[in-house]
Amino acid sequence: MNLDAAAADRTMAPLPLVAELRQLLGADAVTTDPDDLRAWGRDWTRVAEPRPCAVCWPRDTAGVVAVVRLCGHHGVSIVPSGGRTGLAGGALAAAGELVLSLDRLRDLGPVDPLGRTVAVGAGVPNQLVQEHCAPHALWWPVELASKGSCSVGGNLATNAGGVRVIRYGHARQWVVGLDVVTADGDVLRLGGACLKDNVGPDLKQLFIGSEGTLGVITAATLRLAPLPGPTIVALVAVASATAALDVLAAARAAGIDLMAFEFVSSLCLDRVHAHTGLPRPFGVQGSDAVLVEWIGDDTGWLERLARTTSVPALLGLTRADARRLWQYRERVTESLGSDGAPHKNDIAVAVPAIAALARDIETLWAPRQEGVALAVFGHLGDGSLHINALRPGGVTEADWAARCRRADEALYDLVVKHGGSIAAEHGVGLVKQPYGAWTGTAAAQALRRALKLAFDPRGLLNPGKGPCG
Ligand code: FAD
Ligand code: MLT
Ligand code: ZN
Repeated sequence: MNLDAAAADRTMAPLPLVAELRQLLGADAVTTDPDDLRAWGRDWTRVAEPRPCAVCWPRDTAGVVAVVRLCGHHGVSIVPSGGRTGLAGGALAAAGELVLSLDRLRDLGPVDPLGRTVAVGAGVPNQLVQEHCAPHALWWPVELASKGSCSVGGNLATNAGGVRVIRYGHARQWVVGLDVVTADGDVLRLGGACLKDNVGPDLKQLFIGSEGTLGVITAATLRLAPLPGPTIVALVAVASATAALDVLAAARAAGIDLMAFEFVSSLCLDRVHAHTGLPRPFGVQGSDAVLVEWIGDDTGWLERLARTTSVPALLGLTRADARRLWQYRERVTESLGSDGAPHKNDIAVAVPAIAALARDIETLWAPRQEGVALAVFGHLGDGSLHINALRPGGVTEADWAARCRRADEALYDLVVKHGGSIAAEHGVGLVKQPYGAWTGTAAAQALRRALKLAFDPRGLLNPGKGPCG
C-alpha cells in the first residue's frame, strides 16, 4: 500500500468527526477556531503553513483511545502533539490532519526514592518533572533549553538529546515503562516500574524516537538519577570549533567529570548579545566560546590550559554566575529565531571524528556558502553540531530553499563520509524526509518502512514524517 497516497486522500475536515469528537471529549476539548488551528497545528519550525482540520485535547489514555478509533473510522490522519517545541516539523499538521494534543495528560505520580522512578503523563512539561523530583534529590537527566515547554511525551517521541548527553546519554536511556495507544486503538502497557525485563525485543524502545508514527505515548515511568553534587561552569574563549577540542582533550586527560561541553560561535554570541542585552562575554566581538560544566571543585586543569594557550575563561563558581554563563548557550535558539527562522542542521559523528568533520566543514563546505552567515553551536563534546544558515536579504523563498537543499546535500555527504548522522537529536520529522538516501542503507530504510506497515498499516499516525514515514 502507498502510505503517502493514502494520507493525501485525507485532507478535508470531515464535519461528523468534529461533532463526534465534541460528544466524546466535551465541547471545551475540541476546536476548529482558525487562530487555534494556526497555533496548535505547528511546532517551532516555520517550514509550512499549519492546516489541521481540528485540534483536540483528551484528558486521559481512554480519551486518546476513543480519538484514535474515531479517526480510524473516519479515515482521518492524526498528528500527535506535545509542547510543540520540535525543530523538525514533526508536530506540524499541514495536510488536514487532526492534532491530538497530549497537553492535558499531566498526572505526576509519587517519586519512588528506592527504585528511583516516577510515573508521569505524556503531557507533563520536562521542567515540572524536575521540580517534582528535586525534593528527593533526584532528577530526570534529560535537559534542554526548551525544558519549560517541551513535554515528556515529545522528549520520548524524539528521543531528545540536550546538554547533558555527554554524561547521561539520550532520553531513551531513562525510561523504564511506557503506555502507548496503537493505531488500532489498543493500549500497550510496556513495562512499568520493574527495572528488569528481558522479554525482548524491547517494544517500548521502538516507540521512543519514532516521532509519533508508530503509536501515541500517553504515559511513561521514568528512571531518575541522583542530583549531581556542586558543579563549576566556565565559558572559555576559543578560536574555532576545532580549537575547542583542545579544551575537551585537556578535561579528559585530567579525568574531569564533565556535565556539559557546548560550543557557541562568535556569531551566536553576537546574536545573543543583540537579542537579550547580555554583555559580550569577553568584552570584544569575534571570539568563539565553549561552555564547560563539571562536577567538583578542581579548576587546576583549566588554569594549566590557560597558562599554556593564554585563552581567556570566565568562571561561574556561584549558582548565580553559573546561571548567567549558561544564558550565552541556552538563549542561542531564541536569539537566532528573533529575526526570521534560520535554516537548521543537526548533525553528529563519533566523538573522535568530530575534529576531522569540523575541519572539513571549516575548510571545504563553509567557504562555498558565499554570502550566507553560518551560526554554529551545539553539543561538541558529544560530536554534535547545529549549523544554522541565516537567509541573506533579497533572496526569494524559492531561491533560498534551492540553495539550502544544495548546501544540505553537500554537508550530508561530509557527514556520511565521517560515519555520522544527519539527524542527531531533533529527529527526521518533515524537514529531513527528502534526505532518506543519507540515513543508512536501503535495507535499513526498508525495515523502518516495514515497521510502519506493521504498526500502522493505514498510515493514520503522522503520515509522511519521521524515520518510518
Ligand atoms: P513536539 O514538538 O510537540 O513533537 C515532537 C514530535 O514528537 C512530533 O513528531 C510529534 O508528533 C511527536 N509527539 C509529541 N508527543 C507525542 C506523544 N505523546 N506520543 C507520540 N508522539 C508524540 N532537542 C534536543 O534534542 N536537544 C536540545 O538541546 C534541544 N534544545 C531545544 C531548545 C529550544 C529553545 C527549542 C525550541 C527546541 C529544542 N529542542 C531540542 C527541540 C525540542 O524541544 C525537542 O525535540 C523536544 O523533545 C520536543 O518535545 P515537544 O513536547 O515540544 O514535542
Ligand atoms: C540546542 O541544542 O539548543 C537545540 O538543539 C536547539 C537548536 O538547535 O536550535
Ligand atoms: Zn541541540
